[in-house]
Amino acid sequence: MNRSTADTLFNRRMLRDFLRGSRLFFLLSMLASVLSALADLVAPQIVRIAVDHVIGGAPAEQLPAWAARLLAAAQGQGTMQRQIALLTAALLLVALGKVLAQYGYEVSKTRAAETLVKTMRDRLFSHLERLPYAWHMHNSTGDIIQRCTSDIETLKNFLAEQMTNLIRIVILLLLSLSFMLGMDPRLTLIAMLPVPVIILYSFFFHRRIGEAFLDCDENEGLLSAIAQENLTGVRIVRAFGRERYEQDRFEAQNSLYTDKWMKLARPLAAFWSIGDVLSGLQILLTVVFGALFCLRGRMRPGTYLAFLSYCAMMTWPVRMLGRMIADMSKAGISLDRIRAIMQAPEEEDAGQRLTPQIRGEIVFDHVSFAYEDNAEVLHDVSFRIPAGTTLGILGGTGSGKSTLVMLLDKLYELSEGQGQIRIDGVNIRDIRTDHLRRSIGMVLQEPFLFSRTIAENIAIHDGEVSRGQIREAARAACLDETVMGFAKGYDTLVGERGLTLSGGQKQRTAIARTLVQRTPILIFDDSLSAVDTETDAKIRSSLEARFGSATVILISHRITTLSKADRILVLDHGQIAEQGSHEELKTAGGLYQRICAIQSGLGEEAAE
Ligand SMILES: Nc1ncnc2c1ncn2[C@@H]1O[C@H](COP(=O)(O)OP(=O)(O)OP(=O)(O)O)[C@@H](O)[C@H]1O
Ligand SMILES: [Mg+2]
Repeated sequence: MNRSTADTLFNRRMLRDFLRGSRLFFLLSMLASVLSALADLVAPQIVRIAVDHVIGGAPAEQLPAWAARLLAAAQGQGTMQRQIALLTAALLLVALGKVLAQYGYEVSKTRAAETLVKTMRDRLFSHLERLPYAWHMHNSTGDIIQRCTSDIETLKNFLAEQMTNLIRIVILLLLSLSFMLGMDPRLTLIAMLPVPVIILYSFFFHRRIGEAFLDCDENEGLLSAIAQENLTGVRIVRAFGRERYEQDRFEAQNSLYTDKWMKLARPLAAFWSIGDVLSGLQILLTVVFGALFCLRGRMRPGTYLAFLSYCAMMTWPVRMLGRMIADMSKAGISLDRIRAIMQAPEEEDAGQRLTPQIRGEIVFDHVSFAYEDNAEVLHDVSFRIPAGTTLGILGGTGSGKSTLVMLLDKLYELSEGQGQIRIDGVNIRDIRTDHLRRSIGMVLQEPFLFSRTIAENIAIHDGEVSRGQIREAARAACLDETVMGFAKGYDTLVGERGLTLSGGQKQRTAIARTLVQRTPILIFDDSLSAVDTETDAKIRSSLEARFGSATVILISHRITTLSKADRILVLDHGQIAEQGSHEELKTAGGLYQRICAIQSGLGEEAAE
């Protein structure tokens, strides 16, 4: 993934935002990890003093000031024992300090990590909620969920496990190095020989492996997309007996994904083993040369011991540095994948942000529309619906009916120069989107119910709606009787995706949900297709009584549903083929008359 400067800046800003609330804990954990590093560094010095100065009798002038004072305090009877006891106490104190620092580190690190993850999840979710409908149509749910879970986890692990250790690593490296230099520059040089090789080796290795990690991540996304789709579409899979096929498809993707990790295993294993060899080499050099130096009297045994401790202490940060680079590339990829979501522009009003009182006159003025780069779906569509009247829309599948109402609801935006949609004379571009949508009650072609109670599903727009209002809307949608028949009535929990309701019951719940809002504009997109003709008629007459002054758009394939509409529009391949009342159209000799004949049972011959 190539990252431009703008992307890098965005990443940085995004991280800063994510870190809000957890930064202090990150700083605390870094401080604690530095303290624990210092404790690690001091211990070998105490051992060295015990061996070289107390036991070995080296002159006190070579001691650091604090140690000289400490040893001087123990002068007197049984000096050596008292000095050893003092140094042991110092070692214990350092160990205690280390334990406390480690405890503080773990606690603050966990706190930082969990706060960070919570903030990231919250931010991502609230952003996802505000992304345009078109964006959601483009991105697979499985992939989005993958980014909101795995990628967040990777990023958290990197920041919490690696970044909090960064200063500790730097301090351990620098201080070990300076202690070693202070003790014996020549041996330090020898011990340091493999270090640049280790660092360069891990750098180049991880740069190469980054792409493989990205590939793995994307394949994991594909895998969860298959699983997610299968769970959602479980009915189709069963109905068509496609279990075997879907299972094979999943297994194929699963194997592919597993293979990708397997392929990574070999280079990773090689990397870690070669790294081990190199680190071992570093220790080996120190052991051998240090021993030689001691034999020649160039070095004291205590110094040798301390030197070895520091050298061993360095291998961890040096290796960590390699690991950090590895995880940095992984975390960078995760960050990029999260950015892809966060960078997608939220739905925003392009024009002015007006909130006019809506009466309901709707005008489509030379509207043409295409989904992205696809062929045009609507061509030069113009019509007017006076406020308070009902427009019926008839048209074959794919003729653009749903598209028409989605444009009215601003789920898709009209491009410049592709016509205008006006409500009460105001271009909908200039009306605040949330205001517009609150004024339009739409029953979608494919109703979706949340896994909540029926009452909650009906009162989805506002939790404050009273039970009386809910029931009244349900009555108008011919749903009340059905619901009252359930043991728990309106408190019946609708199962995952409303599976416990029949298709027609779901549609009627969706109608009740729209009616309870009492919007000035009502749209029914093929909303009665799943109920029988009798119920259809009942619902229509109760709706008519309720519509009052609302402007209604009624999309249907049934002539009976449309016949009472003030005006009917016949849409054919995205163009208006006919317009008029039922009476006018049924004898106009066009598409409408043909469909009329077929549906009234006269058969195709009569229609001809
Ligand atoms: N998000 C989309 N991206 C690309 N093309 C789309 C999209 N949604 C719909 N289309 C296409 O636009 C055309 C019109 O679709 P639309 O849903 O408006 O038809 P419709 O008249 O409502 O049909 P139906 O009666 O079956 O509901 C179809 O050819 C469809 O394939
Ligand atoms: Mg449709």
